[in-house]
This record gives sequence, C-alpha cells and structure tokens, in this order.
Amino acid sequence: MPKHDQVLVGLDIGTSKIACIVAEVSPDGKVDVIGIGTHPSRGLRKGVVVNIESTVESIRLAVEEAELMAGVDIQSVFTGIAGSHIRGYNSHGVVATKNNEVMQEDVDRVVDAARAMNIPADQKILHILPQEYIIDSQDGIREPIGMSGVRLEAKVHVVTGAVSSAQNIIKCCNRCDLDVSDMVLEQVASAEAVLMQDEKDIGVVLVDIGGGTTDIAIFLNGSIRHTHVIPIGGDHLTNDLVIGLRTSAREADQLKRKYGACMTSLVPHEDQIEIPSVGGRAPRPMPRQVMAQILEPRVEELFEMIKDELQRSGFQELVAAGMVLTGGSSLLDGMVELAEDVFDMPVRLGRPQGVGGLVDVVSSPMYATGVGLILYGHRYRQSSQSFKSADGNILGRVWKRMRGWFGDPG
Ligand SMILES: Nc1ncnc2c1ncn2[C@@H]1O[C@H](COP(=O)(O)OP(=O)(O)OP(=O)(O)O)[C@@H](O)[C@H]1O
Ligand SMILES: [Mg+2]
Repeated sequence: MPKHDQVLVGLDIGTSKIACIVAEVSPDGKVDVIGIGTHPSRGLRKGVVVNIESTVESIRLAVEEAELMAGVDIQSVFTGIAGSHIRGYNSHGVVATKNNEVMQEDVDRVVDAARAMNIPADQKILHILPQEYIIDSQDGIREPIGMSGVRLEAKVHVVTGAVSSAQNIIKCCNRCDLDVSDMVLEQVASAEAVLMQDEKDIGVVLVDIGGGTTDIAIFLNGSIRHTHVIPIGGDHLTNDLVIGLRTSAREADQLKRKYGACMTSLVPHEDQIEIPSVGGRAPRPMPRQVMAQILEPRVEELFEMIKDELQRSGFQELVAAGMVLTGGSSLLDGMVELAEDVFDMPVRLGRPQGVGGLVDVVSSPMYATGVGLILYGHRYRQSSQSFKSADGNILGRVWKRMRGWFGDPG
C-alpha cells in the first residue's frame, strides 16, 4: 500500500459528474494513476454547489470507489472551483530593491504591492499567478532573485471567487472527512493536463466545455494572461434536445453522446435514429440531421460568446498556437471543425497527458480537470498547506503557497 505522502488525489466536483482520481508519486517523480471513482453529480448548478446534501453523497460514493480501486485511504484532496462568480484581473506592483540586488524579501514586497487592489467584500483572492518580472527596464524575467537592479516590477494575474462558493466546497469535502489541500481554478488545473509548454509560450486559448460551465484560460509567453467562466455548457445542449426531440433528459443526454453532432454538414442525410418518447408512447424514427440542426446554433452561440471574450481580452490576434478544446462536451462530433470555422484558428482536442498508470481510463477530455488537479498538486505540494476550514484563512494560505510559486522557475 502506498504511503500517504506518495499519494495525490484530485477531486473534480463538476456539474455533471464528480471524479476522484488517485495517483501515486514514485521516488523519481513519476505520477501514476492508480485509481478512479466517478459518480453523477446532482448538487451543482452552473459549476456552483447549490445542494450540500446531494453533493456530499456523490462525493462520498466517488471517493469510496476510488479508494477501493487504489487500495488507499483518502484523507486529503486537491479540488477545483468554477462558476460565474470567478473574476480574473491583471495587476502589477513596483518596489525599489533594498540592496541593488533582488532578494526574496523584495519579491514578497512586490507581489504584495501587485495584490493591493479593490476587491468586492464578498470575494477573496484564490490565485495570484505570476506572469513576469521587470527589473529596471528589462522585461520578461521569470526568476528575478539574485539579479542586479534598483526597480523591481511584477506583473500578475489575480483570480478571485465568491467566499461562500469556496466555503461550500470545503464544507462538502470536510463532511466526507476529507481535508482540502488546495482549491484550484478549474481551467488552471485543466491547462496542467492538456496544454504543452510550447503552446503556452507562443500563445494558446484553453476552452473547457463541461456540463454547466465553459471555462476559458489564455496563455502567452509561458504564463496565464486571462481567465473567464461562461455559465453555459453541455447541459444546455441536452435541454435543447429535450424540447426539440420531446424526450426525457436522460435519454436526450444519451442520444447526444451517441449520435449528437454540431455541424449538420458532417452528418450523412440518410442516417436515421430512434427517439424514445415519454408517457409510454412508441419510439419514433428521426433523421440524425435533425439533432445536428438543434445543436449547431446553440454551439455556435456559445462559440460567439467565447469569441467576444477573446476580443475583449485583447489576445485574439496573439494566440499563435490557436485553441485547445477539452471537457466532456468537446467530444461532441464536429466541435473541432465548427470551432476552426468560427474562430479561424487551428483547434485541437485536449486529452489529459503527463501521467502514467491507468492512462486509458483517464484519457477522456472529461478528466482534464481531475488529472490536472493531480499534476498541479504534484508541482506545488511542497508549498501548499492543508486546511480544514477556509474561515478567514484563504488569504494566508494563498500567500504561503504563492511564495512557493515565486521560488519555482516553472
Ligand atoms: N461523447 C459526448 N458527446 C457529447 N457530449 C458529451 C459526450 N460525453 C460527455 N458529454 C457531455 O459533457 C458534459 C459533461 O462534461 P464534464 O464531465 O467535463 O462536465 P463537468 O466537469 O461535470 O461540469 P462543469 O465543468 O461544467 O462543472 C455533459 O453535458 C455531457 O452530456
Ligand atoms: Mg468540469
């Protein structure tokens, strides 16, 4: 049985499913997935916990399944956070160095200065993600400590979220006797699992389309520049099918996964499917193209919203590597093709990478966040601190973790 300090657990509390992924870290630093448990999620809406009871129940079942498979007793987890309460800001701070050479103390002060911004009272800082340092007028510096200079400037991306949403996630985990090691913005986690370093360097948009939310992150010059959450996902597609095809939500979701497509031109017009009816009526045959006709405008609408956000961010022309689509809904037939049309940039599907072990089981885009949480946890384990309750302490914890990040050249 692996020791606790060798085990990392990612708990993705999604709108559609809860996924608990257990990995073992070998002495040489390899991360192997040794267990996975999933359970349909019933207590969330648009990425946010709205029913503690049912969320706790789903988490418990997913965790139990993962424990059984991995043969470990799970005590702490890395978990994600999403929802339209999430805000991302770019900020910067400037200080004068104390000894004409940048020391850790100067870095701490400059980040403190960058953090000083007006945040609404019900929001708390979740992440301070370093982008670059500028020493005197030399920009693009990743590792400033030890360099000479009198003026130190830090550019950072600050992510804030609603205190109550974060607390509810922690409450659900604690009710399942789980400690939360850290809470990570879902697209930051997914990015760990699906993006390549060269993509992050030349510029890339990550789009994680889940059940209730679409999470966006833009990377350039190796670091995160912009984050945004759109409260629309695959569940909206399913709802459109419920109305358009007059069938139950369960059937509609299954039909969507099996036969759905979001580009009518990709579906041969002779393809027929059978739609189970409600109220004991007989199933009806229907051309598969009808489904595509329902789904295409909705996906197009979502893509237009993403495009607007890209324009607003000012990075649209700068993402040379194009777009990476992940999350369960990216599996819908025609997603990549339609995205290439709408965004006029190269688009690829992002499957989780960077882990060994049960790779086949976690290779679906659905597990991008879960696998990413493990990779994130692996990278930042030393500097993260376990905490039982977030009360008043998110800031202190983030501050501690952040110091670790700034010492990390990656
Ligand atoms: N093969 C498929 N084709 C189309 N849609 C799919 C397919 N497989 C899964 N989906 C859809 O993906 C969605 C679930 O994706 P995912 O598991 O990434 O969501 P989640 O993480 O639970 O939710 P969120 O991140 O929004 O909180 C559901 O709407 C589901 O219908
Ligand atoms: Mg998700």
